[in-house]
Order: sequence, then C-alpha cells, then structure tokens
Amino acid sequence: MSTRVFILPIWIRIWHWTNALLIIILSVSGASLHFADPELVLVPFALAARIHDLAGLALVAAYSFFAIANVVTGNWWQYVPKPEGFIKKCVRQVRFYAWGIFHGEIPPYPPTPKNNFNAMQQIVYWFIMYLVMPVLLITGVIFMWPDLAPKSVFGYDGLMPVAVLHYLAALVIVSFMFAHIYLGTTGHKISTHFKMMITGWHEH
Ligand code: HEM
Repeated sequence: MSTRVFILPIWIRIWHWTNALLIIILSVSGASLHFADPELVLVPFALAARIHDLAGLALVAAYSFFAIANVVTGNWWQYVPKPEGFIKKCVRQVRFYAWGIFHGEIPPYPPTPKNNFNAMQQIVYWFIMYLVMPVLLITGVIFMWPDLAPKSVFGYDGLMPVAVLHYLAALVIVSFMFAHIYLGTTGHKISTHFKMMITGWHEH
C-alpha cells in the first residue's frame, strides 16, 4: 500500500512550471540568436530577440517572486546543505541513482514535509537557484541595458565577459534541465515526481 504525504504548497508549483516554461522559451530563442545564420532562418532574428527579451524579463519577475517567497515562508532552509553526514548521504544517494534503482531498491531519503530534498538535490538546487540563476539573470539584464556594463575589462570590450558568463550560465541551466528531467523519472513510478510537482502530494 502506498503512503501519501502533502509536500508542495501551490506557490512552489506555480513558480516551478512558470519557471520551466520560461526556461524552455529562453533556450530555444537564445539558441536561435546564438547560432543565427542568414542562410538558415528558423526564427527570424528580430522576433527571436523580442521573445528572448520578454521571456527574460518575465524570468526576472518569477525569480524575484521565488526568492522573496522562499525568505517569507522559510522554505530557503530546504536548500541549505546540512553538514551532519552530508558526504555520506550524497554517496548513498549517488549509489542509489547509479545502482540501487536498477536493482529494485527503495530511495534512501524519500521527501518529507520537513526534508523535501535529499542531500544531492540540496547541493544541486542550491547551486542552480542561488548561484547560476542570479548570474544568468544579472548578465541578461546588463545585456538589455548595455550602458550598465563597464566600458572595458582588461583591454577588451566590457560586454565581452558579460556575454561569456551569460552563455556559460545558460549552458549549465540547460544541461541541468536534461539531467533534472531524467532524475524526475526515478520515483516510485516514472510519473510519481511529476505528479507530485503538479498536485503537491508525494506517494511512496
Ligand atoms: C520541463 C522542464 C522541467 C521538468 C519536467 C521538471 C520537473 C521537476 C520535478 C518532477 C520535480 C520534483 C522532483 C524533484 O525534486 O526532483 C522538480 C522539482 C524542482 N525543479 Fe524542476 N523541472 C523542470 C525544469 C526546471 C528548471 C528549468 C528549474 C530551474 C532552473 C527547475 C528547478 C526545480 C526545483 C528548484 C525543484 C524543487 C522544488 C521544490 O520541491 O521546492 N526545474 N522539477
């Protein structure tokens, strides 16, 4: 018999799916801008730029909401890796993903309302949400208002490091998204985690 436990309030779920949709729109329009080729126009440059700007501003709004709501509700604490037994818990979790899952083992640290994330999720979600996302958003905003960038950095145009950082942060987020979707399938059933992210109820 499976147990049901309510984990995710509505604001997290609405933020999560808004964020996911915006990141998908931004990756497609961003790839179209980055690899723009006059011979092969998938999305016309001006249209891709407009979509990217609007979705980027919406992502800044969604992220601000996420950051403020996390502080107000105290949910930010979920993301902080707790030192006690951290390495051991990560090793156990990685072993589960790499071996246990293919041998019918049950997840070593299933989500509970108090501990929503296992140790690996904590460190990865913390890195993505509190380090890479701010870099992505700040560099994106500077790109939109280039006067904010320094005139030059080490003799190069000041927008150069902004462009490199924006591109690298985007690569990290897109790579994270693929791994994240795969790991999303590793629940009790393939659909378990996706259902939880929609209904808020976790089944195990
Ligand atoms: C189509 C794209 C996406 C899908 C299908 C998806 C799916 C999921 C699923 C199933 C979960 C719950 C299980 C788990 O925690 O692993 C989850 C949680 C989460 N996802 Fe995603 N995700 C997507 C995109 C993203 C993106 C782009 C980000 C961040 C840049 C993100 C950040 C998070 C965070 C922080 C959580 C934990 C939320 C919480 O429990 O408080 N997701 N996602």
